[in-house]
Amino acid sequence: MKITIFNGSPRAEKGNTHWMVQEFMKGAESAGAIVENIFLAGKNIHHCQGCFTCWFKTPGKCTINDDMAELIEKFKLADILVFATPVYVDHVTGMMKDFLDRLVPLGDPHFEKDENGECRHVVKVGCEKPPKLVIISNCGFPEQTHFQVISHYFKRVARNMRTEVIGEIYRGGGEILREKSLLLMPFLYGYKKLLQKAGKEIVNDLKFSPETALKLEKPIVPDSEYIKSANQYWDSIVPKE
Ligand SMILES: Cc1cc2nc3c(=O)[nH]c(=O)nc-3n(C[C@H](O)[C@H](O)[C@H](O)COP(=O)(O)O)c2cc1C
Repeated sequence: MKITIFNGSPRAEKGNTHWMVQEFMKGAESAGAIVENIFLAGKNIHHCQGCFTCWFKTPGKCTINDDMAELIEKFKLADILVFATPVYVDHVTGMMKDFLDRLVPLGDPHFEKDENGECRHVVKVGCEKPPKLVIISNCGFPEQTHFQVISHYFKRVARNMRTEVIGEIYRGGGEILREKSLLLMPFLYGYKKLLQKAGKEIVNDLKFSPETALKLEKPIVPDSEYIKSANQYWDSIVPKE
């Protein structure tokens, strides 16, 4: 099984998203998957220009000469795609959105109605078996409610692609993941093990067990503690007026 991870954090390998991705990868690799981890931050990806040239003049090929041609090939070869992104203004990061917009050459422009009477584009020949999706995200605020938009958004992306989201890993309070405090260590260790288990389960079962799914939603530390330490941190670096 081939898993390709697209990480849309500008912090790339220094980010909290990557901290999560690494553990998921360990679990997936231990279950036999071949995993490729790609940082979008290291790629040259321009905005889609909306010209639709890739739909009529040069079908399947974008006019922009950047790293997307290579990334689209990697996209096509995966059995599972992991979209990994921090929450930025309640949504995916700009670079993740640019990446997703630039997948347009993979589509066929014609319209058709789905089983619910809602339009979508016809499946392009050769793209009938799209990869399944796993979403990994973290955010600065502590609650899990901050992933509502991202969760809904990727389900829509999956619908358009004729695939499904088989796993969602969301971590509110993500700014503690790279903390080095001795007090936090056992909690972070436990969460790492959980992410590894999640990676293993996706490879073995193409889903999380109900127990894993439930545990993934649990806070690592109580909200009140997280908020207190976040405010202490900001107090220590924000200049006093
Ligand atoms: C421009 C920007 C917008 C953000 N918007 C949100 C937000 O809407 N909600 C939230 O909880 N955190 C928000 N955050 C915080 C990030 O989600 C948080 O720092 C996260 O841990 C970053 O992950 P990374 O280290 O992988 O980049 C924002 C951060 C930035 C820089």
